[in-house]
Amino acid sequence: MADVTFDYGNLMEVEGGLTGRDLSDVNSRLQNAAGELLQNSYGFMRLPREREAAAACMELAQEIRNSGATDFVHAGIGGSALGPMAVQRALNHPYYNLLPAETRGGPRIHFAENTDPNSLGAILDVADPENTWVNVVTKSGTTAETMTNFLVVRGVLIEALGESGYGDRTVFTTDPEEGYLNQISAREDIRTLSIPKDVGGRFSVLTPVGLLPAAVGGLDVDALLRGAAQCVDEVEAQGAEHPAVVGAAMHYLMDTARGRNVRVMMAYADALERTAAWFVQLWAESLGKDGKGSTPHGAVGTTDQHSQVQLYMEGPQDKVIEILEVGEHPRDLEIPRAYEDLDGVGYLGGHTMAELLNVECDATRRALAEAGRPNSTIKLGTINEENLGYLFQALEVQTAITGSLYGVNAFNQPGVEAGKQITYKRMGRPGY
Ligand code: PA5
Repeated sequence: MADVTFDYGNLMEVEGGLTGRDLSDVNSRLQNAAGELLQNSYGFMRLPREREAAAACMELAQEIRNSGATDFVHAGIGGSALGPMAVQRALNHPYYNLLPAETRGGPRIHFAENTDPNSLGAILDVADPENTWVNVVTKSGTTAETMTNFLVVRGVLIEALGESGYGDRTVFTTDPEEGYLNQISAREDIRTLSIPKDVGGRFSVLTPVGLLPAAVGGLDVDALLRGAAQCVDEVEAQGAEHPAVVGAAMHYLMDTARGRNVRVMMAYADALERTAAWFVQLWAESLGKDGKGSTPHGAVGTTDQHSQVQLYMEGPQDKVIEILEVGEHPRDLEIPRAYEDLDGVGYLGGHTMAELLNVECDATRRALAEAGRPNSTIKLGTINEENLGYLFQALEVQTAITGSLYGVNAFNQPGVEAGKQITYKRMGRPGY
């Protein structure tokens, strides 16, 4: 069972927080939004119960792991990268690529995201071209950054392995029919994995977009889906009472009724830093439309206590802080006793690092509340596949419901098109 809980007490109880009246004012709209979400059978709500794509990903991942691959390059950007990166960062060793091959049991995993030659060049510096696989991930099959990273890696693989060797080590993850990758796949006989038509990039972490790299990295994709499916079951049973749905109303009201238009997700675990980055894209690209939406921001505790908390405590009253807390950290280290005659150092000995992290998490939460700074907490029992799957699904539900409350379409992103058109023209794409 996934163990993920939501605590909104400090959004209600602090000075300047929400009142029961605020919530009852939006209640009928929230009920409608929840009803609409469940009736519309959105693609992202269906994914957790589908096992076919997961089975295909696990089979291919096994083949990749058995092939003696040293390197796996995942080329993708935006929703085609942030979810998979969040999964690896949360669930695999933080220095996974530096572990001995026997300990990893699979290839090093590299994310080629930006079109920055320094980044891709660095991947190519460490990857062994004769034993590298490339997974090109783009729903549209047209994204310039991803196609560029692909073209460069393709050139390197062809040089090392020849045309047929390159084809054997290449996977396309894309729309089932549309886009240039399908044309190239037909021409070069490249294997493809499908991203369902009704699932957009930032909602696609539980499609092959996230599942293949997770399986290549030796993670339990069944458990990821199981956690997400538990969330779907609970949302279906509880509707507008589900805490993720209630959170949609809370965050919507914090922006529209209290003027708190910055939503900070502060993860008290380094492993969840990329999860906050994934959420930032989900919230920003889904809701920032028609002059509406609140600005998401990612932070890490305790690190950002020494950077941003001053602003959260005493800066403008425009933020709502959401703490991501972990009950039992997957790993802990005892702090040795030493310098017991020095008061400011000796007290640490005999405690553990996880204990200090969680005490600081709670201290920040309380200090914020006492200063009249509304905050909420999402608590994961621990960091594992099931809890992460649940969290992804819950935040996707919350974002979709918040879109309904704002009256915007959470599933499109028209605002990024203009820049693309100018780029195409400047780079000489025919027809632009
Ligand atoms: O969420 C989205 O739809 C976007 O962020 C896309 O994932 C991103 O623009 C990349 O698109 P594509 O997967 O088509 O390359």
